[in-house]
Amino acid sequence: MTPSPRRILVTSALPYANGPIHLGHLVEYVQTDIWARFQRLRGHECHYVCADDAHGTPIMLRAWSEGIDPEVLIARMAQEHRADFAGFGIAFDQYHSTHSPENRELAERIYARLREGGHIVQRTVTDLYDPEKKIFLPDRFIKGGCPRCGAADQYGDSCEVCGATYSPTELRDPVSALSGARPEPRENLHFFFRLPDFEPMLRAWTGGGHVQPEVANKLGEWFDAGLREWDISRDAPYFGFEIPGSPGKYFYVWLDAPIGYMASFRRLCERTGLDFDEWWGPDSTAELYHFIGKDIVYFHTLFWPAMLHGSGFRTPTAVWAHGFLTVNGRKMSKSRGTFIRARTYLDHLDAEYLRYYFAAKLGPGVDDLDLNLEDFVQRVNADLVGKVVNIASRCAGFVHRLAGGRLAAALPEPGLYGEFAGAADTVAAAYEERDYARAMREIMALADRANQYIDAHKPWLAAKDPARAAEVTAVCTQGLNLFRALMVYLKPVLPATAERAESFLAAGALRWDDVHAPLLDHAIAQFEPLLRRVDPAAVAAMMAAAGPQGDAGTDATAAPAAADEVPTVDYEQFAKIDLRVARIVRAEAVAGADKLLRLTLDLGEETRTVFAGIKAAYRPEDLAGRLTVVVANLAPRKMRFGVSEGMVLAAGPGGRDLWLIAPDAGARPGMRVK
Ligand code: 2FM
Ligand code: ZN
Repeated sequence: MTPSPRRILVTSALPYANGPIHLGHLVEYVQTDIWARFQRLRGHECHYVCADDAHGTPIMLRAWSEGIDPEVLIARMAQEHRADFAGFGIAFDQYHSTHSPENRELAERIYARLREGGHIVQRTVTDLYDPEKKIFLPDRFIKGGCPRCGAADQYGDSCEVCGATYSPTELRDPVSALSGARPEPRENLHFFFRLPDFEPMLRAWTGGGHVQPEVANKLGEWFDAGLREWDISRDAPYFGFEIPGSPGKYFYVWLDAPIGYMASFRRLCERTGLDFDEWWGPDSTAELYHFIGKDIVYFHTLFWPAMLHGSGFRTPTAVWAHGFLTVNGRKMSKSRGTFIRARTYLDHLDAEYLRYYFAAKLGPGVDDLDLNLEDFVQRVNADLVGKVVNIASRCAGFVHRLAGGRLAAALPEPGLYGEFAGAADTVAAAYEERDYARAMREIMALADRANQYIDAHKPWLAAKDPARAAEVTAVCTQGLNLFRALMVYLKPVLPATAERAESFLAAGALRWDDVHAPLLDHAIAQFEPLLRRVDPAAVAAMMAAAGPQGDAGTDATAAPAAADEVPTVDYEQFAKIDLRVARIVRAEAVAGADKLLRLTLDLGEETRTVFAGIKAAYRPEDLAGRLTVVVANLAPRKMRFGVSEGMVLAAGPGGRDLWLIAPDAGARPGMRVK
């Protein structure tokens, strides 16, 4: 039976208000929503809040480019986001905005308390200023030559070629990606949050079981590297909250973003009368969980608990990170047409399919999750339609035809039903631990048992003999009760299907504990199809709509690229470049480098090691065996991770959108490319 009610607050990361929701986002919202629905189904008090993350330079610039006020942009995005989430059955109790009075009040309060505690310091630093746009440039909006390896056209924070990280003032020949102007270094006052003040508290918190083991390991590395003060101020023009008492200075978007969790909950309190302090006060006994992507662990496990602790609020019960979504085994990519917007999916397919598919693949760790579209069709059809819904459609007709729609008064095999009810704790434990893949496996194993039961009793044959009507009704009553138990277990994942099953079973909303009391001597309603099969043609239509002409259109979240300026070379210069066909023998990730793969290349006569900044575009295991082209006479370059003996050629703007140049299959390693 369900233990006594808990009080639980859950959040998902706040999506930026300058881009559409896509399937990558949805992994997290589906994961959180399933967990929240599961808790509510078990009878706990569980509130799920979220908001749009509305501040920051990219949002301001996008509004400028559209010639509208940021307020207008974020209102439009909020509407779109809400509609997309609703389409996927994401049942927020509150969806708010970081650009809200509640968030301003809380951000100011937290900042004031941190300052009173001596945790805020001011320092002058050198920033790069765009004299044409009259704006201090964020790192991603400055491009130039890498100070380490010299590669051209690198962002202001890190080099995609050698993996170096640096400050934008170190770039060679920097240009503003906004105007193309040369940025000017300017002395500028910044406010810093003294994260190192909190090291003992953070070591205790992160070591106290509040994060996953993988995350705890990563945190160990960060502690070893030393915590650094965090720059929390930005200069006008900026879309955000002005720092009280400091005209022209604004809170950096990441300062008020997580406070948006509190602000959204505060709004919920205003609407429903919940007591804010009972949930966020330092002595709160409520549980607080943040679901996030693995890329924002630093913010949520270091800055955020420190900010909360330093300003007299409670810290999270746990922060749970998940991995990224790949589509057909590769990172989502606009140019490959695998960047699928939530809306595009909903235009073609039922949200229940994706909720189930994600659930079937989500574990408690930070592993990436692949949406393989063939597997998606196959698995949803086999499991949901072929196994689960099928049970009800096989049994319902006989109960109506032979017993006027009334279930039998007893189960012919109470032992089998007992097995289904007995699985409640195991399934619940899997959900609780966010091991939905395990929960789905348990549930589908039960569905197999239910189908075996029906196959063994063949009601369709027995129903031909009028003398056996009672027996058939009993078998189908058994079948429908097994189906009902499965629907209870699947209800967090399939809310719309469960609702249709509830109408059919006509016994009110399914609750977790219902599995302990089968439905007997009870009138059911007419059976309506609960879920249609996935039509592969609809998947194909979705992919066509998501293709380069569709969702792959301009990426509003990306920093604008600087114009390419390539000088002319004469033939002699060109002839000096020794281009060779190479076969990739092995590709491996490089520890500590976010963008690099280490390639072992076969050049016919010799083997070379080359570091390539292609990690965002390729999975290492997909590269082995492929042919490509290498600049073979490039002087060896010593990099942080080893010596690179050449350079492979790739086309595209960079990041995920990069394609290795590949000769036709007849080419052999070592051949000269002319
Ligand atoms: O990474 C992002 O998309 C951020 N908008 C997430 C913010 S989560 C929270 F801290 F607000
Ligand atoms: Zn470099």
